[in-house]
Amino acid sequence: MINFDRVPIIKGLEFYKNQNNTAFHMPGHKQNQRIFEELEFLKANVYSYDLTEVPGTDNLYEAEEMIKDAQVLLAEAMGSKKSYMLVNGSTCGIYSMILGLLNKNDKIIVQRNCHKSVFTAIYLGNLSSIYVYPKVINDFDIASTVDANDLAEVIKENKDAKAVVITSPTYYGTCAYIKEISNLCKENNMLLLVDEAHGAHFNFSSLLPETAISLGADIAVTSFHKTLPALTQTAVLNLSHSLSDAQIEKIESKLQMFQSSSPSYLFLASIDMARYIMETKGEMLTRELKANIDKVKEALSDIRGIRVLDETHLENESYDFTRLVINTPLRGNYLAELLRSKYNIQVEMADFNNIVLIGTIADTSIMYENLVKALKDIFADSNYEAQLNAHINEARKDSNLININSYKLMPKPKTILNWHEAEELERELVELDDSIGRVSAESLVPYPPGVPLVLPGEEITSEIITYINAIKSDSLKLTKSLSSKEADKIYVIKI
Ligand SMILES: Cc1ncc(COP(=O)(O)O)c(C=O)c1O
Repeated sequence: MINFDRVPIIKGLEFYKNQNNTAFHMPGHKQNQRIFEELEFLKANVYSYDLTEVPGTDNLYEAEEMIKDAQVLLAEAMGSKKSYMLVNGSTCGIYSMILGLLNKNDKIIVQRNCHKSVFTAIYLGNLSSIYVYPKVINDFDIASTVDANDLAEVIKENKDAKAVVITSPTYYGTCAYIKEISNLCKENNMLLLVDEAHGAHFNFSSLLPETAISLGADIAVTSFHKTLPALTQTAVLNLSHSLSDAQIEKIESKLQMFQSSSPSYLFLASIDMARYIMETKGEMLTRELKANIDKVKEALSDIRGIRVLDETHLENESYDFTRLVINTPLRGNYLAELLRSKYNIQVEMADFNNIVLIGTIADTSIMYENLVKALKDIFADSNYEAQLNAHINEARKDSNLININSYKLMPKPKTILNWHEAEELERELVELDDSIGRVSAESLVPYPPGVPLVLPGEEITSEIITYINAIKSDSLKLTKSLSSKEADKIYVIKI
């Protein structure tokens, strides 16, 4: 008999499991509630398959046997020249693609709302970065993808850049017009690197957007665990035919650097099986998923105030329908909490005005029925009007929230020092309100989605403080790299 008090993680997970939450979040296998026989087979073999590199099991970094065969099948499935299984998430793929393709001091054009791993790679590689800002989807207050015209302007001023890195799809399922962007990069002799972490499922159904590689990207990273029935931390790096052998060799050397020297074979097996499930059932189950999501959209269309993101809200972007972004007159985080506490529905993420749900082929129709029932209940509640008014009044009480629409535009902090320079200088801890005009010594990252608001070396503006206060009053999570225990303080460079 296990004494659960002596195994707190197990105790916590058991408690969570027994809540039987409806999971609209990653990992994409959704705890195998759908009961894929392939995943049940893996489950039965967890301990017998948990191996690493011994004679007879091949080697992830010099694949010649089963891993080589699996990676060939993977490349076919992903439509790439070569695909690599990753065991440390898209994060290690992003480090490897950026540091494999650029050299110290090279200039790289970066979409400012990329995931924090992109900025870490720039730091690790001592690269010089120039930002291109994303467009904003006004009705939802969402920072989205990069527009080719905006990128063209930045390229015009930075012809010496070696590469461009963008995120597509975004956390919200919006996809850039990669064809136009890749043509622009080719015309200017720049490589196009795509963080496609949220798009691992694209090549498995004709209903989904085209992949970055098929649209001309030189390299793209996909997280298998986010949208496919695969274990957390599994991901795949996809290379296009445009890359030379020398470039590939350097990327491979980085993959060894940034991944464990004891790769988990459970992760490799999980990637292999997820690909197999998608190849054999992906198209059919994606159609089923679309039917479920269409029904939700139909059912929500007559709820006053609710808006669901789709192509009609976008300009020069496409959309991945498997991502449900629901804009709500209640604050995003409040609605997420209500869904969780009252209806056992767990969403992936909430921001100021939206909740974000991840749909995958592992979902069942009942999950979507539960979601519709809960939202109808919340919004049809005779208390809703009162709830909404209380909410708005509460927001107005807090002067930081008066200007809710001002969050539309991401703050654009000025870079005063690069990250390395900032790290080497003396720092001091000051009250957030006293930090305006000072240079930050740390990074501030709302999580999720993990897009840095401020990086070390950037100037703190009043706009940023307003944004931070809004995050705090909405109980959204903000990660500070140094002063994590001091909610109202921040490290700045000492003057
Ligand atoms: C856009 C984006 N890129 C990269 C990552 C990192 O992926 P992983 O968690 O697989 O390392 C994330 C994680 O949420 C992400 O949202």
